[in-house]
Amino acid sequence: MERTFVYLKPNAVRRGLVGEIIKRFEQRGIKIVALKLLWMSKQQAEKLYEMHKGKSFYNDLIDFVTGGPIVAMIVEAPRVIEMVRHIIGDTDPLKAGTGTIRGEFALTITKNLIHASDSKENFEREYKIFFSNNEIIDYYLDV
Ligand code: CMP
Repeated sequence: MERTFVYLKPNAVRRGLVGEIIKRFEQRGIKIVALKLLWMSKQQAEKLYEMHKGKSFYNDLIDFVTGGPIVAMIVEAPRVIEMVRHIIGDTDPLKAGTGTIRGEFALTITKNLIHASDSKENFEREYKIFFSNNEIIDYYLDV
């Protein structure tokens, strides 16, 4: 079983889209194994986005993601890294397919509502910025 790290960006929280987004994961049968509301620190944001340091959008990205509360989660399902990215849609909302979260609700690349890990290696790196292992809860999904 695979896991991935997802977080809902401050505009998703401020627009009241938390339930709408989580619903889309749940209705696909994806299991939430960790979940919290938090305010991302500058330190956490710089660690999460260290590969983008120096890029033109870096400062705006850090300011935006630290500008309000986020909802961070770890989700579990077979091939969930690919599945979640499929449900979310392209990073650029203009290219995100109809029916995807970004394709339906997002307008700009910076305010693209949601982030998900793009590989197993990045999942391992990213979730540890926000969760300790004892915050991950294993259980079975009911029918
Ligand atoms: P995310 O999935 O959080 O990963 C990196 C983020 O950087 C991405 O979503 C976008 O919000 C942002 N990003 C990536 N490319 C650009 C770009 N060309 N201009 C502005 N923001 C970008």
